Amino acid sequence: ADVRLVDRYGRIARDLRVSLTTACNLRCTYCMPAEGLPLIPRDELLTPGEIARLVGIGVHLGIRDVRFTGGEPLMRRDLETILTASREAADAALHEIARATPDTTATPDTTGAPGTVRFAITTNALGLDKRADALVAAGLDRVNVSLDTVDHAAFAALTRRDRLDDVLTGIRGAISAGLSPVKINAVLLPEVLEGAPDLLAWALEHGCRLRFIEEMPLDADGNWTRDDVVSAADLLERLGTRFTLTPAGREDPSAPAEEWLVDDGPGTVGIIASVTRSFCRTCDRTRLTAEGTVRSCLFGDEETDLRALLRSGASDDEVADAWRTAMWAKPRAHGSDSPELAGDAFAETARSMGAIGG
Ligand code: GTP
Ligand code: 5AD
Ligand code: SF4
Repeated sequence: ADVRLVDRYGRIARDLRVSLTTACNLRCTYCMPAEGLPLIPRDELLTPGEIARLVGIGVHLGIRDVRFTGGEPLMRRDLETILTASREAADAALHEIARATPDTTATPDTTGAPGTVRFAITTNALGLDKRADALVAAGLDRVNVSLDTVDHAAFAALTRRDRLDDVLTGIRGAISAGLSPVKINAVLLPEVLEGAPDLLAWALEHGCRLRFIEEMPLDADGNWTRDDVVSAADLLERLGTRFTLTPAGREDPSAPAEEWLVDDGPGTVGIIASVTRSFCRTCDRTRLTAEGTVRSCLFGDEETDLRALLRSGASDDEVADAWRTAMWAKPRAHGSDSPELAGDAFAETARSMGAIGG
């Protein structure tokens, strides 16, 4: 039997995103309300042990990439512990898989081998300089940093906090700790379009891989409208005023970003056109919220409570079954780009991005 996380449209999840908290020290308008999100009571958050157990189960189900998100994952003081425990659980699971299936073609990995599990975080980089070495020691492979502009005033307006310099220090710290190349995620907002060439120049200078992302309707205030989405064409025109861009395709078929070579390389810039060219058809993600529910899609509000199962003494097989059942029901697509899907109404979510974890 196929043990993998398959849905009814034939997609297979191998990428797990685990939200660790809804807390954050910034308040980006597209992600959170000004007052922040309600804090989750401590006993409702997954513990490092529970997270590691779910990661281990996930690896048995074919997960090979794990990304911790938030809110802001660095808000968890125990992030290093979570990483260490998760890495151990992942390695143990890989070991069991290799032992159980000496014929490696039968393992859940699409490449046919048990492979490795890569750990990443998506962070705003505040305080990252102070923790990067410890995070690497705990098994972190990569970091993606959310940074929309290098203009101080625009940054302060957008994040409602005047902390651009601390973010840049955090990125430099990650680079020094060996986490290069750092990827930078910039949400494409009308107010940052003008500064896009400056952001790209900063990224190139620091060896970072910049990707612009079309804004999705995941803001807390419900202010998103399709008409305000800045398109890839708008961005390319703006960047074209300073750089020569050559299309370079996708890193791999399921990568969300289309890449462009900047001034003949080696630097690149990517665009994640989640709205105008959605990649739901090739989506390979499954998500856990900070409270331990499975979310099959950013936009599917149906959630399955794995924490309750864990705490009621369920076996790994029972948890795995519940996870598979949850993923089978993954929505086909979000309706943000196509009116004919609007009946599915995925464009309205009960949680904002800060509460799902991106
Ligand atoms: P890499 O593995 O480094 O490419 O990371 P990633 O792109 O998977 O993760 P990251 O956290 O950096 O997210 C980048 C952007 O992709 C986010 O800002 C989201 O806007 C978008 N994104 C993430 N997950 C999904 C998803 O499931 N569906 C859609 N439509 N967009 C997503
Ligand atoms: N639309 C698109 N991307 C978003 N992010 C947060 N909110 C949105 C949104 N409404 C991005 C952040 C972060 C990533 C996890 O998601 O910039 O990098
Ligand atoms: Fe915090 Fe990231 Fe949301 Fe900004 S995008 S408020 S940094 S969780």
